Amino acid sequence: MTDTQGSTNVIDVLISDHRDVTALIGEIKTITDPMIRRDLTDTAISEVVRHAVAEEMYVYPVMREYLTDGERAVEHDIDEHKEIERTMKQLEALDVSTAEFDEAIAKLEALLADHVQDEEIEQFPELRRRVPPERLTELAGKVETAKKLAPTRPHPGAPNSELFHKLVGPGVGMVDRLRDKLTGRATR
Ligand SMILES: [Fe+2]
Ligand SMILES: [Fe+2]
Repeated sequence: MTDTQGSTNVIDVLISDHRDVTALIGEIKTITDPMIRRDLTDTAISEVVRHAVAEEMYVYPVMREYLTDGERAVEHDIDEHKEIERTMKQLEALDVSTAEFDEAIAKLEALLADHVQDEEIEQFPELRRRVPPERLTELAGKVETAKKLAPTRPHPGAPNSELFHKLVGPGVGMVDRLRDKLTGRATR
């Protein structure tokens, strides 16, 4: 995924995740078959969790560093991640055929749309302008790897960076060493 031409940068990876998840949620809303619905919902939850954890590990620190008022932007975004995770925790437990499930999906869709808007309209363009392109390229690889190692279930009560370190071990550097060894991923 990474290359020396800088054609894959982390912003493009994240935007593509946003598109995928948004499409998945659109699909969940139109599908009635309970098994497919459950399956797509669990996939969407896992995608969102892995994306959020990777952002918090590698992208939000860069936002803190380069954005005007980055500290506040990151705090706001992490709060939103937690709210998104709380809604996904509800979705995990709800029967997919109930009105409560439909409400929770609509809520997740709205929360995500708002969060994606913040990132794509305000924060990512500023990152593109301010962060050296080679750093954005390097981060693409780190984010891809972190997504493979990250938890796949929402943990709204705990900081995602702690969870990540608990799962991966104390050295984030090992993320890079693990990159080529990965064959599969368990639910955790
Ligand atoms: Fe995002
Ligand atoms: Fe985010």
